[in-house]
Formats: sequence, structure tokens, C-alpha cells
Amino acid sequence: MTKKNIFLLLITLVFLTLNSYLFFTAPEPLKKMYRKESYTYSVNDGFQIVANLNDKYRTCYTKLIVGDGTRAGMKFDENWQNNEIEAGPLPALFLRSTSAYLEKSPVPLSLYLGSDFPISGSNLLKGIQAEKFKEIKKDLEPKFFRDNETNRYIGMFPDFASTDACVSCHNNHPNSSKKDWILNDIMGATTWAFPRDSITTNELINWINVYSQSANRTYSSYLDKTKTFQNTNKIKIGVRWPSEGYFLPNTNSFSDTILNVAALDLIKSFLYGKD
Ligand code: HEC
Repeated sequence: MTKKNIFLLLITLVFLTLNSYLFFTAPEPLKKMYRKESYTYSVNDGFQIVANLNDKYRTCYTKLIVGDGTRAGMKFDENWQNNEIEAGPLPALFLRSTSAYLEKSPVPLSLYLGSDFPISGSNLLKGIQAEKFKEIKKDLEPKFFRDNETNRYIGMFPDFASTDACVSCHNNHPNSSKKDWILNDIMGATTWAFPRDSITTNELINWINVYSQSANRTYSSYLDKTKTFQNTNKIKIGVRWPSEGYFLPNTNSFSDTILNVAALDLIKSFLYGKD
């Protein structure tokens, strides 16, 4: 054996001994510290953090883009991706597109928007999610559980009718299975799923990154679509918002505005965790 090989062997042995010491024989506090470095957050904490961020995106998009944009003369449509339709995505489709980008990422985190009275049949909550949704409607609290059919940990969060736009559009939609929604009703639930019960800090950072990138990509694809409009006036893209007229913020202004609102909560979750 060469000197270099002996050296490598020694290093490996020291590493393995230290590892088994930490895992099997280390005193409790040291064990905890070691574990803490690996799995800092329960999956439920992670769900709460991304759900909060998703809420900020959803409210901002619904109020400041769809709500104000409609008043400024812009159109939003469920078939917004069709070539002949010159419109942007409805809030639910913004979420669905975000979730599709999330699905394409290497992170096995998924997001779904469902309801017990959906406009689109494919959004009907089923099985254990339908059961848990009944509880959410009673106590207005998120629910965390394991779905044994899919082997996923689930976080389900109430989706409130936070602006008049939600209520009036759903009540007037021809396919709506309920026409008497009122402001602040629970219209559905956003459901997050992940295969493990805990995550590392790096994973949490990844979740936040991948989620924001997915939402920002969705927004960018909407901006790209407006550039192809032939019959509708082209919307000016820059730093101004629809509340000022026929304008849309560029992707940076859009995401910066949301991150400004979300930053305090995000920093707190890193400093203090969710406990
Ligand atoms: C301009 C119309 C419009 C607005 C505004 C709107 N929605 Fe929807 N929403 C729809 C349509 C259409 C669908 C079905 C889209 C699909 O999946 O095909 C939908 C889907 C949903 C779903 C999934 C279940 C279902 O009905 O299919 C929920 C939950 C939901 N919306 C809640 C909300 C909330 C909460 C708001 C406000 C924050 C909101 N919507 C704003 C039109 C709208």
C-alpha cells in the first residue's frame, strides 16, 4: 500500500468512527445538534412557509393585475393560451401554471387548487382531501396529514374569497356549481404535497427559490403573450401597474413587490423557525 493510500484509509476510518459516534453514542444534546443540521424543518413548517408566499403571489396577482387590469380594459380568460384569445391567465390558471413549472423542477413538491364546488370538474376535491376540507370549513385552520394512497405528506390551506373579483367572477361563471359566494368565504383549498416528513434548511431555500421561479415564469409567459396581441392595444410593460392605466409591471417589478411584502415573514421563519 502506498503512503497516499494509507493516508486516505486513515481519513476514511476517522470519518466513519466520528459518524457512528454521532449517530449511536453521542450524548443527547450533541445528537440533536447534529440532526438539526440535517433536518431543520418539519415538512409542515415548510408547507406553511411556501403557502404563505403563494398567498402573497395569489393576492397580488388577483388584486393588482386581474382586478385593476380589468378596470383598465385588460382581458383575462380561462383559454388565455389559445392563439386567437388576447387575454391573460385567470388567478386559478396562474396557480395551475406555477404548479406545472414546479412539477418540472427536480424538487418533488407539488401544488394543487381544489374545491367542493368547482367551476372545473377536474378541480373537485376527492378522498381524504375532501374529508379534510370539511374540517377546514368548520375551523378555518390548515390541515396536515399523510395520504396513505399516494404516500405523500400533505398540507391543505383554506383559499379565501379575498376580493370582490373572486366572488363576482365565480358567481357569474356559467359552469360554476355555486352562485352565492360571498366575500371571505372559503372557496377551496391549496394543497401541497411532499414525500418526506422533514427537510433541511437548504431544501427549504430550494423550495422558496423553485416556487418563486415557477410563479415568475408564469408571469413572464403572460407578458410574452401580450407582446403577440394583434387586435388589442399592446400593453406597455415597465415599472407601472394597471392601477395607473394600460400598463403591466415587468417580471422584476412584479416579483420585487411581492417579495417586499413577504420578506419579513420569510426572514422570521429562518431566524426563529416555525415553532
Ligand atoms: C375572472 C374570473 C375569476 C376570478 C377573478 C377568480 N376566479 Fe377562481 N376560477 C375561475 C375559473 C374559470 C376557474 C376554473 C379554472 C380551471 O381550472 O379550468 C377557477 C378556479 C378556482 C378554484 C378551483 C376550483 C374551481 O372552481 O374550479 C378556486 C378554489 C378558485 N378559483 C378560487 C378563487 C379565489 C379565492 C379567487 C380570488 C382570490 C378567484 N378564484 C378569482 C374564475 C375566476
